Amino acid sequence: MIKHIPVLPQETIKYLAPSKNQNFIDATCGLGGHTRLILEKNGPKGKVLAIDQDAEALEMAKKNLKNFGKRIDFEKSNFSKLGLIIRHWSVERVDGILFDLGVSSYQLEKPERGFSFIHTGPLDMRMSEENTRISAKDIVNSWDEKKLKEIFRKYGEEPYAGKIAHEIIKARLQKPISTTSELVEIIKRATPPKYRINMEKHFATRIFQALRIATNDELKALESGLKQALQVLSPGGRMAVISFHSLEDRTVKNFFLENPSLEILTSKPIIASNQEVNLNPRARSAKLRAATKL
Ligand SMILES: C[S@@+](CC[C@H](N)C(=O)[O-])C[C@H]1O[C@@H](n2cnc3c(N)ncnc32)[C@H](O)[C@@H]1O
Repeated sequence: MIKHIPVLPQETIKYLAPSKNQNFIDATCGLGGHTRLILEKNGPKGKVLAIDQDAEALEMAKKNLKNFGKRIDFEKSNFSKLGLIIRHWSVERVDGILFDLGVSSYQLEKPERGFSFIHTGPLDMRMSEENTRISAKDIVNSWDEKKLKEIFRKYGEEPYAGKIAHEIIKARLQKPISTTSELVEIIKRATPPKYRINMEKHFATRIFQALRIATNDELKALESGLKQALQVLSPGGRMAVISFHSLEDRTVKNFFLENPSLEILTSKPIIASNQEVNLNPRARSAKLRAATKL
């Protein structure tokens, strides 16, 4: 059974506070790690609507959670359509909604999905093949230098954004850039050895993150998902959001601050303990924010 270790498990449950017979939406079910934690608390009649736009992830979650039977409903969709999805879910109240953003370790580790700079694979990065119009390959081979530099700066906070964008344009004049390892080589050529060696993370991390965010239009989906979550949530219900980079976290923080109908439960984002980071390195950059709908 393939698993994804859920980040901030106790903290997420503390803030979502699921109790007997309450209903929850897991907007990013992944392999179902957090969904399981909620289902363990909201029995015997509480339900979970588990959403993910990734068909493979959802199939695995179905297997991982089969013991919960009819208490769980699955929906393959983008959470930016939450308002529509909920119309078909027959519950009286929604007591909490969780967003655990980004990609799962399962997606990262499958070379053919193209998210990984460690394994060679096609430069794809789409979380949903039907709903995402462009792949990372399309972006890298067709967007102009200015636009590439802009997304590398904005979504990746990459100091060598300009140099890398320029090197991409040069490389694609010879032949289209098709694989993750071709892109890694280009990033390597565009950055000084000192920069690559001194980095805490792999030197391609920021560019891969930027391309993933652009391919899946992640910030737009987040803004839309948060707005709809607030509408869908019942008074007294809770919203918890786990983000993995500063732009996402800022979007969540501002959304909470700008909505007077939300009481913020986390004045500062909750981060993982050293112990958790040692066990699950993905938790290193996780930030959890939570609020109650008044
Ligand atoms: C970090 S993983 C979630 C892991 C999950 N909490 C667990 O414990 O197994 C994020 C998941 O969200 C999904 N996802 C990301 N953006 C999405 C969106 N806009 N709509 C629906 N699913 C999304 C991804 O496909 C991925 O499976």
